[in-house]
Amino acid sequence: MLPAGGNIVVITGDLREPWELLKSPELKRVIDWGEPVALMFASVLHFVADNENAKEILAIWREHVVPGSYLLVSHASPGENPEGAARAAQAWRRSRTPIYPRSPAEIQDFFVGCELVVTRELVTTSEWGTDAVAAERQAVILAALGRYC
Ligand SMILES: C[S@@+](CC[C@H](N)C(=O)[O-])C[C@H]1O[C@@H](n2cnc3c(N)ncnc32)[C@H](O)[C@@H]1O
Repeated sequence: MLPAGGNIVVITGDLREPWELLKSPELKRVIDWGEPVALMFASVLHFVADNENAKEILAIWREHVVPGSYLLVSHASPGENPEGAARAAQAWRRSRTPIYPRSPAEIQDFFVGCELVVTRELVTTSEWGTDAVAAERQAVILAALGRYC
């Protein structure tokens, strides 16, 4: 991570409470919500349980951004091995940060109000920027970059 200072700030908080993060004076100092911004949810939304409503969390951020802003999401998905992914998720749920892999359709749904750019659909992070095809029979991290219309 880059060191804080100047136009870089690090704030601590719970991503499930975006309204608290948005109150941060440090965030207000460095972000001009009248200009396009990039919201990056890199491998974090799969730590939000279904009943904690990741889509609603994104909706709160979306209310703050202007068209032309970007949304990056990368998210665990069962891939070609749903049984293995379910077993892994079950084991992970005993940890302090349980994980909730989601289907491609559920992850795609996070991009409401966006057009996908760079890739036209969700891709695995191992395919991103390459001609590689994801290995089969493994759980995957799916990702896309959207631009709010
Ligand atoms: C897989 S790491 C991804 C980190 C970084 N975004 C990246 O792509 O390298 C997931 C991070 O999410 C954090 N995390 C999990 N649940 C969180 C929550 N409710 N609020 C804030 N951070 C959370 C974990 O502590 C961990 O640092």
